Amino acid sequence: MQVLIRANYEEMSKEAARYVSSEMRKKVKFVLGLATGSTPLGLYKELIRMHKEEGLDFENVTTFNLDEYYGLSPTHEQSYSYFMWENLFKHVNIKKENVHIPDGMAKDVEKFCEEYEHMIKEAGGIDLQVLGIGSDGHIAFNEPLSSLGSRTRLKTLTQQTIEDNARFFENKDEVPRYAITMGVGTVFEAHKCILLASSHSKADVIAKAIEGPVAAYITASAMQLHRDTIVVLDEGAAAELKRKDYYRYVDKMVKEFNK
Ligand code: GLP
Repeated sequence: MQVLIRANYEEMSKEAARYVSSEMRKKVKFVLGLATGSTPLGLYKELIRMHKEEGLDFENVTTFNLDEYYGLSPTHEQSYSYFMWENLFKHVNIKKENVHIPDGMAKDVEKFCEEYEHMIKEAGGIDLQVLGIGSDGHIAFNEPLSSLGSRTRLKTLTQQTIEDNARFFENKDEVPRYAITMGVGTVFEAHKCILLASSHSKADVIAKAIEGPVAAYITASAMQLHRDTIVVLDEGAAAELKRKDYYRYVDKMVKEFNK
């Protein structure tokens, strides 16, 4: 795992966009895993800018989103589908048929989840998965005690997640109680992962996920078992890391080595 610490949210987002775009440019048919939440918004803005100004091409990109609230239709303004179209897809040349987001209205949830897993496999797996982290340590919507081998399924959200996400809804009661989410096992089958975290509010959970034990209690900690994960943080999110200086030193040494 490589930990990159950048001065602020903007620098974190630019670093992430440089990485994502350079990976996209390496392969003709690229499979990109995407996340929602406020953290990747800066990354998506930068990718849109790169598309408009630098020809970053989404024509042959296939995407899979991590999760979706159960019970929200894609037209609901708080659905992750709506979020993705508003904040990325409608601004780039991606083909509608190449976009995959779990169906929050699926009638047969189990069958849908199996199909979602199948579609990822059919696409050749995810080349690069973008991740955020919830304040309770979740990746996607894999709440504490989700099996580290879990697959796409329905999950019950914690009260903490409901409260964190209430800011996007009129009130807390409107936040769905369930979500369809890729499992921890599904997520970390991606060939590469990039996890972003910003602000002091994530400092504690980031330190646990990176430097704490691998535990189902903090599902993001499973990234320690993944062989190609980059974590990009701003100073706030990095504040509680014990080996911060070493991660900075590695960052510098890697750059020097690659000169
Ligand atoms: C939701 C999403 C996660 C995301 C998390 C953090 O719970 N399911 O994928 O990482 O929010 O959101 P934010 O970036 O707004 O802190």
